[in-house]
Amino acid sequence: MDSSLEIPGIARLVTGGGGLPRFEIATPLAEAHVYLHGAQVAHFAPAGQPPVLFMSAQSWFQPGKPIRGGVPVIFPWFGSRQGDASAPAHGFARTRAWAAESILQRADGVVVVTLRLEPDDAMRTMWNASHNWVLRHRIAIGSELSMELEIENRGTEPIQCEEALHTYFNVSDVRGVMVWGLENTEYYDKADGMRRKRQDGEPIRFTAETDRTYVNTEATCIIEDPGLHRRIMVEKRHSHSTIVWNPWIAKARAMADFGDDEWPRMVCVETGNVADNRLEIAPSARHVTETVVHCEAC
Ligand code: BG6
Repeated sequence: MDSSLEIPGIARLVTGGGGLPRFEIATPLAEAHVYLHGAQVAHFAPAGQPPVLFMSAQSWFQPGKPIRGGVPVIFPWFGSRQGDASAPAHGFARTRAWAAESILQRADGVVVVTLRLEPDDAMRTMWNASHNWVLRHRIAIGSELSMELEIENRGTEPIQCEEALHTYFNVSDVRGVMVWGLENTEYYDKADGMRRKRQDGEPIRFTAETDRTYVNTEATCIIEDPGLHRRIMVEKRHSHSTIVWNPWIAKARAMADFGDDEWPRMVCVETGNVADNRLEIAPSARHVTETVVHCEAC
């Protein structure tokens, strides 16, 4: 392993699930795991707190397959690709090995890991071969978890894409959880034939499969979890969509890489730009989507 990618006593590159390399970071502020596969944060816990992110005990850890939990990076399309049913769901960024660009510790104790993905022939074949781009994912681990996904267009034509930080949160029991912040916002209901609806003035409560793409919202979401006496705040910048997902019973059973009984312990509140909010990035321009996750007791 490259020793410039270690901070003695703080961060090291080790062999993780399925033999895939991951950073293990432990500081007085927090501990975290970050896989090069998918640039995926797989674990984050501020000091003295239970894990903030959910990870399925049934997850695959295999090249070419997504990891079920933590924060998958979704790019360049969200869900199935329009007009191409054979394309992998949620694009290819989450199933690729990213390059580790740097790791450093700031004066305030926060550790910042930067990972990079550039197109290879397989990605060019799968998407628009004439696009030239680079993704950078900057993950800052402190008492809060901050993630910045940068898309740089290095080509000569505009790039249209969707992207998301598909954050899986660890909750005590989703049936008692409320998500605030999306009141009076419009969404596409994937659990109801993608019908466009409007959230009422109430927080989201979970009583069935929930799969909603909220559009035109930059609001901070708050996951209120009475069972863990915790509020998780999900702040974002340069993101106009928020996806809220829990598979519930039947869909959990249908997923090979997810335990049948795991659905009550997770909820996804995802930061992105999808559907009506898909991005168009001009030549030589960059787009950075940022999300910051922090917790408080309640
Ligand atoms: C969510 C989508 O973001 O991801 C759901 O809204 C989807 O429709 C879920 O089921 C999980 O997707 P995947 O491809 O990881 O099984």
